[in-house]
Amino acid sequence: MNNLDTNINFIKKTPKVELHLHIEGSLEPELMFKLSKRNKIEIPFKTVDEIRSAYNFTNLDSFLKIYYEGSNVLITEEDFFDLTWEYILRCKQDNIVHTEIFFDPQSHLPRGVSFDTVIKGIHKALKKAEKDFGITSKIIMCFLRHLDEEPCFDVLKQACNHKDKIIGVGLDSSEKGNPPVKFKRLFEQAMKEGFITVAHAGEEGPPEYIWDSLDILKVKRIDHGVQCLNDEKLVNKLVHAQIPLTVCPLSNIKLCVFDKLENHNLKKMLDRGLRVMVNSDDPAYFGGYLNKNLIETSKALNLNLEDIKKLIENSFKSSFLENEKKEKWLEKIN
Ligand code: ADE
Ligand code: ZN
Repeated sequence: MNNLDTNINFIKKTPKVELHLHIEGSLEPELMFKLSKRNKIEIPFKTVDEIRSAYNFTNLDSFLKIYYEGSNVLITEEDFFDLTWEYILRCKQDNIVHTEIFFDPQSHLPRGVSFDTVIKGIHKALKKAEKDFGITSKIIMCFLRHLDEEPCFDVLKQACNHKDKIIGVGLDSSEKGNPPVKFKRLFEQAMKEGFITVAHAGEEGPPEYIWDSLDILKVKRIDHGVQCLNDEKLVNKLVHAQIPLTVCPLSNIKLCVFDKLENHNLKKMLDRGLRVMVNSDDPAYFGGYLNKNLIETSKALNLNLEDIKKLIENSFKSSFLENEKKEKWLEKIN
């Protein structure tokens, strides 16, 4: 077997973790079509192929517009169950043993879909995943940063009724012009309620947004963070504190953060000692689930087996899994 085959084989057979996955971003065109019919919701596409060919993005905002439109077909608890269950089947295929998923309640509440409907559907599928396949999971609720802080407090209040299911809060949507400081009071309140915090930062936005996510929002992980290499002092801090950066290579290419995968900075980040790992972000929109992200990135950046091992090890270490389970998996993969 040559090195490439060895790497692909290793990626496929090693148990893995995913830490950056928006459940609404796993809505495949086939399911979007099915749900649009089931719920009698009009979508601006006639065929599955038409949906797929609309997925040409120039930046984050051009993607978000289509992503929120797609989410409109999600109405009932069964829809959220089906959506989550389809992602779980992909996890099984890719040998993902633990996943931490984001959901965006604020893209559903204004359409009259209740918080309980969303969380119950997602949670039911995740419970079944554990029972049927032994796949464990955590749920993180994201606030949409293009909206004001004030209405988020009511969403946080609703999340407090589901502390048994939701482990933390995050920040996603349009990054530029929506700095972390906008949500300072909200995140303080979330922490008081016992939620862990994470935030998308340094995807398109400047390194300052990474600094402020750490200093003001007190995040345990940075989602994306690829812009950190433009600030040497920040890199030193991230390395020293081993702050996890949940990098999503295929997403970064689709959203034109890098022009091609060969120019992605993941290998540079690894070599600097940053705690990075690979994730799929919105796989139905960006052309690949976790294994494809790992395989394509390994090929494009000439990653060796040690690099790939490090990425997978980092993902287990950076998860919010209970320490005992974390240790068990780390032992197993080594
Ligand atoms: N929501 C879904 N995917 C996202 C991304 N990559 N960045 C910010 N918000 C998102
Ligand atoms: Zn994301």
